[in-house]
Order: sequence, then C-alpha cells, then structure tokens
Amino acid sequence: MFHSKLSSKGQKRWRFPLDIDCLRVNVVGVGTLIVVCFVTTLICQQLITASDPVGFSQISVGRSIQSLLQFDDREKQQNISQDIKAQIKNALKIQRRLIKGEMDGYLYPRGRYNMSASKLSDLVPELGGTPVRSIILTTWRSGSTFLGDILDSHPGNYYHYEPLLQYEIVQIRGPPLWHEARSLVRSLTMCNYTTLTDYLQYGMEHNYLFTHNSRLWEMCGQFPDLCFEPEFLNSFCRLFPFQSMKIVRVRLKLFQDLLNDPRLNLRVLLLIRDPRGILQSRKHRVWCPGNPDCTEPSRLCADMVSDYSAAIKFSKKYKNRFKVMRYEDISLDPYSSVSELFSFFGLDLHPNVIDFLDTHTKVNIGGVSSTYRDSKAAPFHWRNDLSFEEVAQIQSSCKSALKLWGYRTAGNATHQKNFIPISKEFTFA
Ligand SMILES: *[C@@H]1O[C@H](CO)[C@@H](O)[C@H](O)[C@H]1NC(C)=O
Ligand SMILES: *[C@@H]1O[C@H](CO)[C@@H](O)[C@H](O)[C@H]1NC(C)=O
Ligand SMILES: *[C@@H]1O[C@H](CO)[C@@H](O)[C@H](O)[C@H]1NC(C)=O
Ligand SMILES: *[C@@H]1O[C@H](CO)[C@@H](O)[C@H](O)[C@H]1NC(C)=O
Repeated sequence: MFHSKLSSKGQKRWRFPLDIDCLRVNVVGVGTLIVVCFVTTLICQQLITASDPVGFSQISVGRSIQSLLQFDDREKQQNISQDIKAQIKNALKIQRRLIKGEMDGYLYPRGRYNMSASKLSDLVPELGGTPVRSIILTTWRSGSTFLGDILDSHPGNYYHYEPLLQYEIVQIRGPPLWHEARSLVRSLTMCNYTTLTDYLQYGMEHNYLFTHNSRLWEMCGQFPDLCFEPEFLNSFCRLFPFQSMKIVRVRLKLFQDLLNDPRLNLRVLLLIRDPRGILQSRKHRVWCPGNPDCTEPSRLCADMVSDYSAAIKFSKKYKNRFKVMRYEDISLDPYSSVSELFSFFGLDLHPNVIDFLDTHTKVNIGGVSSTYRDSKAAPFHWRNDLSFEEVAQIQSSCKSALKLWGYRTAGNATHQKNFIPISKEFTFA
C-alpha cells in the first residue's frame, strides 16, 4: 500500500487531512515524492469536488494511486516482453540462416541407416519434421564428453549436454528419482522447456550445462536475455534437424520406456569403459570423493553387470536403435569407430567431424578435462597410475563386469604395466 511505502522510506506517516500532508511533504522536498504529491494533489482536488472529504477512506486513495502505479508497471512489463519477443524473433531468424548454411550440400540419409529423410524439412521440428535423436548413455569418466563434442561438431546439431546435472553425483537406478528424471529427459527431447524450472535454474548457476551446446551458447552470447527463457528455448531447439544428448546418471534398463516411445524415435549408444580406467580417472576429480556412486568399485561394477543384461535384451528388441561400444576400441581406432557410430546414429561423416577428429585425437593439449588428447594412450593410463593393490581391489569387486565386457585381469604388478587389458576378440551380441 501507498502508506507503508512512504513510511518505509523513513518519511512521516501519511495522515489526513490530505491537503496539509501535501504541503508538509512539499516542504520536506524529497524529489521523488514531488511527483507522487502531484498525483495526490490531483486526487485531493477530485476529493474536494467529490464533496465528502471527511468520510473518504484511506484505502480508496491508496487504491487509486496503486492502480496508477500498476498501470505504469504493466506498461513497462509489456515493453520488456515486447522487446524479448523481438529479440527471440531476431535470434531465430539468424539461427535459421546459420542452419541452412551448415546444411548446404549435406548428404541426407534417403533410406540409408534405416532413415528416409531427404531434405531439411523432414528433420526440423518447427517444419513438422522428426529430428535424428541420438543419446550417449554411460557413466562418469568414460569418454562421453569427447563423443558428445564430436556429435556437436556435426552440422545442424543441438546438444542437450548431460541434462541431469542437478542430481549431482548420484546414479539413478529406478523410481522415484527416475520418474522425475525421465520426464526431464522426455521434455528436452521434445524441445519443451516450459516446466523445466529447476533445470534452467541449475543452468543459470552452472554454465557448463549449456557451454557444450555450441550453437545455443553462441546465441546466449549474442542474446544474454534469452539464454534461459523457455519461450526462446522451445522455439530455438525446434529449429535443429539433429538433436543429441549425453547422460551419465541413468542405468540402461530404465531407458526401455523412452526407446519404446515412437514419438521420440531415439537411437541410444551404451558407452562402456574398463572400470579400472574409470576409477583411475575419477581419482583426479574433486567432485568424486564422498559420493559412493562415484568411488565404490562394487557399485560401478554392479551397474555394468545390470547394463550388460539390459544391453543383451535391447540389442535384440531395438535392432536399429541400440548399440554398444567400448571406449578403448574407439580410442585405438577413432576414425573407423566414429564412422561406425555415425552410421548407427544415421549421421553423415561430414568434413567438420573429420576436422574435429583431426584436431582432437593426436596430441595432448589443455590438461585433464580437455577433450584434446592422444587417444591411443588415454585409455591405458591406469596401468601406470594405479598401484597393483588398487587394481587388485577393483578386480575383486569387478570379476563379472570385467568378464562380461571383455576386459582381462592383471596378475601382478609387472604384468599390469605391460599387458593389453582388452580382449580384441570381444564383440557384443
Ligand atoms: C513503452 O514503450 C513506448 C514506445 O516504445 C514508450 O513511449 C513508453 O514510454 C514506454 N513505457 C515505459 C513504461 O517504459
Ligand atoms: C527400418 O527398419 C525396419 C525393420 O527393421 C523396417 O520395417 C522399416 O521399414 C525401416 N524404415 C526405413 C525408413 O527404412
Ligand atoms: C510442454 O509441457 C507442458 C507440461 O508437460 C505441457 O503442458 C505443454 O502442453 C507442453 N507444450 C508443448 C508445446 O508441447
Ligand atoms: C604375473 O602375472 C602373469 C599373468 O597372470 C603371469 O603370467 C606371470 O607369471 C606373473 N609373474 C609373477 C612374477 O608372478
């Protein structure tokens, strides 16, 4: 109310009769109040002509001023939202042009990869198309940042980088967490940000939710007001013919519902890595200690066993839409592995992708969290970094997981330093 606003500014309490108070405030001469008083004076005059100054209630004076103020606020609000609308329109226009440019000369599937799309509009949601939707499912420190960035280097890609960051260092193995998480994944896959308040709030506080989505992040730089606006994100996401996502916090068996949903039309890669390599890499992360889902070999390897039985089932049930690859195989032969992976996802191995591989697989640049590295050496660092005691401890919790996924065990410290930990003959299903 008007009265309390005044007193909260430390002014003398507003009292009747009105005309005397108007004078008093003018004498005090507080700049902002002059305007208010002018308005009040108008009202005072109206009151006088209204002929019942004594019986007039404070509330109705307050209300008439309040509604004037509200009117001003509303107008301002409207101006802001009009400006946002104009910015959205502009950003979408720019991005449509960029996508058109990126997709110039693109080799559409036209029946290859079990996909019929032959032009941009077949794939773009805002034009009624169905995008190619690829998901990489794995766990922390298994090479998904690298693969995710490769997918993002493909033309026209929109990258939902790990959407479940807000759950922090937790594995989701079932309800109730999964019901929430599934709805988030589903909404993002459908480009619907309307109710994703927590997700967007997390993103505002942790930029890396969006930084890997190179096209969105670029727009966030140009249009900072839009970056976390659902109204913008809904339309922006729907411009893209390719949509990718990586998830490290959900176990495979839970993905059945999403794979079953024909509207989503997902293709899912399960990315597997040697648990000894995973745990060695996690040792160097500050966010891992104290979180058993991250530190405990027994939990990691039980998840790997569970993923194996789900993978056997899914590879029969979703022939064209589910695939398994091992991080080590990809690292040893990145070009042919990525080529195989792109065929599976129904993506063209575009020159941009080759450029990305050329610059990211041959040398070590930029420290531990970088995706620039010598890919042939990376997967086996653990042999030198872990003691044999550590390795033996992991191996004792991981017997089944190692065996199922084609990893050999180290017999002693000497053996550990020199052996090849992967069985070459391993093939999945
Ligand atoms: C809203 O915009 C109009 C025209 O752009 C301007 O005349 C008016 O003063 C603005 N109102 C507010 C409250 O900013
Ligand atoms: C995809 O493969 C299924 C069988 O696996 C087939 O029935 C379907 O027609 C194929 N679709 C396209 C677009 O090739
Ligand atoms: C987005 O999701 C909300 C909540 O699930 C739903 O009410 C709304 O209709 C959806 N919007 C679109 C465009 O699908
Ligand atoms: C170390 O382990 C390897 C493989 O299990 C074995 O062949 C070798 O004999 C062992 N060496 C020693 C010194 O125990």
